Order: sequence, then structure tokens, then C-alpha cells
Amino acid sequence: MQGKTCLVTGANRGIGYHVALGLAQRGARVLVHARTAARAAEAAAAIRAESGNDAVEGVHADFLHQAEVRALAAQVHERTDRLHVLVNNAGAYFMYRQTTDGDHEATFAVNHLAPFILTNALVDLLTASAPARVIMVSSEAHQRTGNVEDWESRTSYSGYGAYARSKLANIMFTYDLAHRLEGTGVTVNACHPGVVDTGIIEQGLSRWWTRWLIPLAKRFAIPPAEGAETPLYLATSPEVEGVSAKYFKRKRPATSSLVSHDATIGARLWNISLRYTGQLSEVEITGEHIVG
Ligand SMILES: NC(=O)c1ccc[n+]([C@@H]2O[C@H](COP(=O)([O-])OP(=O)(O)OC[C@H]3O[C@@H](n4cnc5c(N)ncnc54)[C@H](OP(=O)(O)O)[C@@H]3O)[C@@H](O)[C@H]2O)c1
Repeated sequence: MQGKTCLVTGANRGIGYHVALGLAQRGARVLVHARTAARAAEAAAAIRAESGNDAVEGVHADFLHQAEVRALAAQVHERTDRLHVLVNNAGAYFMYRQTTDGDHEATFAVNHLAPFILTNALVDLLTASAPARVIMVSSEAHQRTGNVEDWESRTSYSGYGAYARSKLANIMFTYDLAHRLEGTGVTVNACHPGVVDTGIIEQGLSRWWTRWLIPLAKRFAIPPAEGAETPLYLATSPEVEGVSAKYFKRKRPATSSLVSHDATIGARLWNISLRYTGQLSEVEITGEHIVG
């Protein structure tokens, strides 16, 4: 990865830290994103020390605030005119329904709207750096999604339901963006990292009647370094050069849910994502660009 510039979101802990570390160990220049400047600086210093690679820098944004995500894209543009790998890894699980300052449901805002804004804002750097790769860290949780198009859980809320829908949105965004970027040399793939012993397991089981499951889940979960293997494979392996619009598990192509391939729902998701991020007002787009 010498000569490559990479950005990993949510890289101050968990899977993202080990993805950023793995890229730094392979010689890449790595922009390490975290929610705050202090966390980003601390993570970048730890990765520099652990990898021996000095080309590791912190960048920051709280994904609950769209203005901060746009400012992150601006920070990246200031630091580099090339971006070969973007790993959209940051993610959160909210036990109770919360909304952002822009009145969006927090899970959808952090897990889908933020990477939607960031990736679209960095497409110019990615295409200028082709061959380039975008990796979306999704989850098998997307397979168990009800009320699919209630993206913001307006009818009813469960932490798991909101999380699963946001991870479905990650895959639908992957497929749609991959088609839009066909012929540019930028590939877009999604993956499930495995059940990994990170903060998300604790967030997901934090109700008093499920807390007893945390030690059990942790016993069966893989360590974060192992959880980083599939995203790292997608970011670095020559085996997936040119491969796009796929979902991977354990470094192999896997089948995502039937609904994740529904191009009409995918186009409606793209449309509402544009609207919710202030990039589209009332214009409706159709699925024609990806159907057939
Ligand atoms: N762990 C699993 O079993 C599992 C399974 C399938 C998929 N995944 C996916 O893997 C990805 C990484 O999660 P993880 O398991 O490594 O969990 P984690 O240890 O909780 O890490 C999540 C990362 O996302 C960041 N993040 C959360 N909310 C943010 C916000 N508002 N603004 C900016 N950054 C924010 C966190 O930053 P802070 O430290 O500031 O909170 C942290 O860096 C997620 O997309 C998750 O959905 C995990």
C-alpha cells in the first residue's frame, strides 16, 4: 500500500482501529477519523507507534451533525488530492430513539446519512485516484430488517430494528453507488466483519434484562483485529481488483438479502438521502439508472 492514501472512519477503537493499523502496517498514508479531534489525535499517535509508520494523521467529525461531516470532507480535501481507499466503518447502536439537530433518527443519521454525505463529497478524490476502493462496513443484521422503508423508525422503534435498517441502507447505497461509478475505476463493496468483541455488542445488549448476555456474546465474538480482516482484504487484496457491487463475509462474496437488491427501493433511498442531506428539494428520481 506504499503510495496509497486511505481514510478510515470510526478508527479510534474496535474494528476501525485495526483496519487503520493494518493499512499503516502495509505502508499506506492513513487518515484516522474519530468523533473528536482529541480522540483522532490519540488514535493516530497509537497507530504511528504500533505500526512504525509516521504517515498517520487524525481527522474528526461527529456524525450526528451533518455540518461536521461536510467539514470532515473539507479537512480531507485540504490534506490530500488523492484518496485510494475509503473505509466507511463508523457506526452506532441506540437503545432508545434519539434525533439529531436536523431532526433525523440518530442510527440512520450516523450509520447511513453521514457516510452518504462523506462518500459523495469525496468521489472527486476517489475518481482522480483510480483505481480506488470504497468499503462499507455493514452487518448480517441487515438480513432481519422489518418495515424496510421506515428508515427513520417513525412508526415504532427498537434499537435492533433501527440498526438493522441502517445496515441494509449501507448495502443498498453500496450497490447504487457502484453502478453510478461504473467505468470510473472506483469500486464499492460492502461486508459483514463477523460478530466482533467491540463496544457495539455492549450497546446492543445494554438493557437490564439483556445485560447478562454480554459476557456470553463476548465469549463467542472474535477479537477486533480478526473483525478487521474482511474490510482490510477488500481494501488491499489484488484478488478483488475491479470487483464491485458485492457483499462479502469471511473474505468471500456472500448473498445479501433479497430486498437489498430492490433497485426501486434503492433509488427511493438515494432520493430521500439527497433530500435529508439538503442536496435535493422536491425533485423525484426514478430507479431507471440502475434497473436493467
Ligand atoms: N461488532 C460487531 O459484532 C459488528 C458486527 C457487524 C457489523 N459491525 C459494524 O462494524 C462497524 C464498527 O463497529 P465496532 O464493532 O468496531 O464498534 P465500536 O467499537 O463501538 O466502534 C464504533 C466506531 O464508530 C464511531 N462512532 C460512533 N458514533 C459516532 C459518531 N456520532 N460520530 C463519529 N464516530 C462515531 C465510534 O467512535 P466513539 O469511540 O467516539 O464512540 C467508534 O470509533 C460498525 O459500522 C458496525 O455496525 C460490527
